Amino acid sequence: SGKLNAAAQAAGKLYFGSATDNSELSDTAYVNILKDSQQFGQITPANSMKWDATEPSRGTFTFTQGDQIANFAKQNGQLLRGHNCVWYNQLPSWVSNGGFNSSTLSSIVSNHCGTVVGHYKGQAYAWDVINEAFNDDGTWRSDVFYNTLGTGFVATALQAARTADPNAKLYINDYNIEQSGAKATAVMNLVKTLKSSNVPVDGVGLQSHFIVGQIPSSFQSNIAAFAALGVEVAITELDVRMTLPSSSANLQQQQRDYQTVVSACNAVKGCIGITVWDYTDKYSWVPNTFSGQGAACPWDQVSTFQLATQARRPGYPQRITLR
Ligand code: XIL
Repeated sequence: SGKLNAAAQAAGKLYFGSATDNSELSDTAYVNILKDSQQFGQITPANSMKWDATEPSRGTFTFTQGDQIANFAKQNGQLLRGHNCVWYNQLPSWVSNGGFNSSTLSSIVSNHCGTVVGHYKGQAYAWDVINEAFNDDGTWRSDVFYNTLGTGFVATALQAARTADPNAKLYINDYNIEQSGAKATAVMNLVKTLKSSNVPVDGVGLQSHFIVGQIPSSFQSNIAAFAALGVEVAITELDVRMTLPSSSANLQQQQRDYQTVVSACNAVKGCIGITVWDYTDKYSWVPNTFSGQGAACPWDQVSTFQLATQARRPGYPQRITLR
């Protein structure tokens, strides 16, 4: 049928999935595609399990929005990836400006990760426990966690998550680690250090927010290098952006780029699945973040009727034929 998750599973992968957000779940035409587990076998909440959404003030946890996404996945027989426990962004100011000493911040991190991961115990296939901890040059990001706790926040978060849900795969997730280089090396070194000190870590997430025509030549070998460390690898936030308005040449190149990504994951046993950072341009984060850029998702931004019939980009879903 050419549906994405069915094709991924036929290729021996665990899933092909999509991010989504709560406000999108009232869009019937959108949901009709998202809920099809032959198309999307996995769901990631784009926002509703982040720190600002789940613990907006200290010790007060709210899971209503996160639960809506988790329940959607459960109802439709889809895996859930939790996203995320510890990130410098979308972090409430009570954490970022709190002025906590190291022992207090450490217990805040542990309590946050333990409570959030524990709330979804048994429901999440995986969690992005650590998100975007490094700079592009491979040094640690100067955020409240690193500046207060040094590198120890990573183990604190991972151990709390493991205790809270022993069956969830615990991931380090980042961008610009899709190619070999200083940042990928830093994440590889972190994985080695964690493993040698018996800190639980199960996977590395390559966000994979790509630019059309610029899938790194070392993408596949880099996936293999991560997998060789004894962790699984997932493509966690795939999109392929271009300058707007899109041209047919760029859309054709994008089709090849998506195929390149899928083929690279398929070629490495340890690459277990791919998640697009929402499936339609209608709900892509790209235009809000990269000025003048867009058309990044596998489905176009089209009218409701066109969305349902996939009419505007001819050939879809063959533009991401998984094999
Ligand atoms: C994005 C969401 O898609 C947006 O809705 C939000 O405004 C900002 O965050 N890397 C990540 C994701 O790990 O959490 C980000 O998601 C995109 C970049």
